[in-house]
Amino acid sequence: MKKIGILFGQENTFPQAFVDRVNEKQSKFKAEFVHIDQVEQSVPTDYAVIIDRISQDVPFYKAFLKNAALTGTAVINNPFWWSADEKFFNNALAVQLGVPVPKTILLPSKERPDDTTHNSFRNLGHMNWDGIFNHIGFPAFMKPHAGGGWKSVYKVDNPEQMFKAYDETGQLVMLYQEAIDFTDYVRCYCIGGKEVLIMPYEPRNPHHLRYASELTVTGDAGKKLLATIKDYVLKLNHGLGYDFNTVEFAVRDGIPIAIDFCNPAPDADIHSVGQANFDWVVEAAANMAIERAGKVQKGKDNLTWGTFVRNSVQAAGVVPAPAEEKPKSKKEPKAEANEEKPKKSKK
Ligand SMILES: Nc1ncnc2c1ncn2[C@@H]1O[C@H](COP(=O)(O)OP(=O)(O)O)[C@@H](O)[C@H]1O
Ligand SMILES: [Mg+2]
Repeated sequence: MKKIGILFGQENTFPQAFVDRVNEKQSKFKAEFVHIDQVEQSVPTDYAVIIDRISQDVPFYKAFLKNAALTGTAVINNPFWWSADEKFFNNALAVQLGVPVPKTILLPSKERPDDTTHNSFRNLGHMNWDGIFNHIGFPAFMKPHAGGGWKSVYKVDNPEQMFKAYDETGQLVMLYQEAIDFTDYVRCYCIGGKEVLIMPYEPRNPHHLRYASELTVTGDAGKKLLATIKDYVLKLNHGLGYDFNTVEFAVRDGIPIAIDFCNPAPDADIHSVGQANFDWVVEAAANMAIERAGKVQKGKDNLTWGTFVRNSVQAAGVVPAPAEEKPKSKKEPKAEANEEKPKKSKK
């Protein structure tokens, strides 16, 4: 297993630059585009490391990667966690990790999933809309609990707009959350659970100008804000176990509030992130892949597992406690941006 591979879809700039950079930096592990022509159960691949940029869209690749992981490949990101994650769970874990997130409610899909009937939902009561609207307030965001690329993201100002938008969401399970009225917004790459690049980002600009932004906070306050953001980025990625991710924060009253941190194949296109950010992410990803390839143990589990999973396994008495920090106990203050709880369902 002496190779480093990258598995990708329609993107054009990052994969080639990544391969070139890994090969420039060393010759022990040859980097290349992953090539697949036969996938057999429990048969290892030639790859010490595979960077996965596409399996969210290709279930065949996800199954290939799990088999590769079982037989010793360090797959980035962990394909098992990536099959399990979604934004609602990630938000809930963020609360327990002490990272502020918007007040958020989970909504059942507006339409029933295929092959279900009224009887499939006998456990589900009417949503307590008054309680939800009071708790979340307006404006609010509604977006898929497992989604990306700004698809089906709605900003709503009142219940009428919310119900109209909800009607358009079909079988998507939705998050309903308070809109954060921000003075600064950042998007942060986190690579290998240690390298962090904080990129000022203006989501209200047209796509090609979103990274052409600067923080409004400067001086000591700016430094403190950046330090807090870095700390939160690392907490989230250690908790969730992503090797390659982006985290977005909206800053309100000086507090960074995590908006979107479930991006295991984050945009890394030179045309959207710009040359300097692109160079940083290529370099950091190349370094991570080479380091991981050097640490791979043949036939072993070489995946990264977040502290959530490791602590769960440890609690079950299977392995010793992980060295890294544990999620805070439930007794500590929760990190929702506002503590008020929804009123009990009236029914
Ligand atoms: N709670 C929120 N408050 C303020 N802005 C939000 C909120 N949720 C989403 N947004 C805006 O919508 C954009 C898309 O939402 P996001 O959660 O990042 O979804 P996606 O995974 O599709 O990128 C964000 O970049 C941000 O500008
Ligand atoms: Mg986003």
